[in-house]
Amino acid sequence: MSDPADGGTTDHPLPGYRLSAQGRQRVEDERLSLLEQLFDPISRQRRVGVRPGWRCLEVGSGRGSMAVWLAEQVGPTGRVVATDVDTTYLNRLDLPNLEVRRHNILTDSLDSLGPGSFDFVCARLVLFWLAGKQEMALRRMVECLRPGGWLLDEDGDWGMVAPVDPSHSHYTFYHRAWKNGDWWTARGYDPAFGRTLPMLFERCGLINIHHEASASVVRGGSPWGQWWLQSLEGIRASEQADGSLTEERDQEYRVLTAPLTDPSFWFLNALIHACSGQRPSP
Ligand SMILES: C[S@@+](CC[C@H](N)C(=O)[O-])C[C@H]1O[C@@H](n2cnc3c(N)ncnc32)[C@H](O)[C@@H]1O
Repeated sequence: MSDPADGGTTDHPLPGYRLSAQGRQRVEDERLSLLEQLFDPISRQRRVGVRPGWRCLEVGSGRGSMAVWLAEQVGPTGRVVATDVDTTYLNRLDLPNLEVRRHNILTDSLDSLGPGSFDFVCARLVLFWLAGKQEMALRRMVECLRPGGWLLDEDGDWGMVAPVDPSHSHYTFYHRAWKNGDWWTARGYDPAFGRTLPMLFERCGLINIHHEASASVVRGGSPWGQWWLQSLEGIRASEQADGSLTEERDQEYRVLTAPLTDPSFWFLNALIHACSGQRPSP
């Protein structure tokens, strides 16, 4: 049966979010905390245009560090709404101009957020997971913007995470398991999703589109290596829970995670894209 929550387009359930905090609150808190330490510095730079008095919406806020930072930028005359399907971590935040809402960007009504009312709408590392439904999510985010308001999304080409030294003992085994990023395709995700953002923004009617992308080569044992290890372990746990962890997959996890604590293992850490665009004024 076709499921309307999946966009009604398929007879197979679409994959959805794989790092839910349910049953693993403490480790996911740690993983999201490390994510914030790694990504916040550049994410702040990308939001420097946010002005005092603005109304901002952050979709899929996670632990909320960027929502808190936005609340500081907009000041007492502005307002930030931070949403997530799971508000476990956001509920700890207590700022007078920051409102937390449990909200699914794909299925919940936009009326509770205020369609057409936000100067700035953003999301970070959320859309990748909404495989097959990213355009729908973006259209709904655009609906929340006031005419002239700005949308920003940051997301990865997560299939690009790969070792750089062919002579390293882990290199061949890693590539055999990773299959040039098709490790993700086998799970229903687009390993090169991030690079599609400018096209999706244009399809959703945005103008003045700006895009940039960056990646670094890092080593096993670095904060990025640690975060990637925690992320793969979280995905493995979700596959174990839903019964999709075959022996072959489990072996692949061992191959992909073993080098992440080895400082002699250098790898490209994924191309992270940032795309912004403006809702046209009438
Ligand atoms: C990788 S985390 C990123 C958290 C935060 N944006 C950050 O960068 O620190 C993805 C977040 O998206 C949330 N999420 C997943 N699907 C969602 C949906 N359909 N609507 C709203 N939030 C969603 C998850 O619960 C999770 O908190």
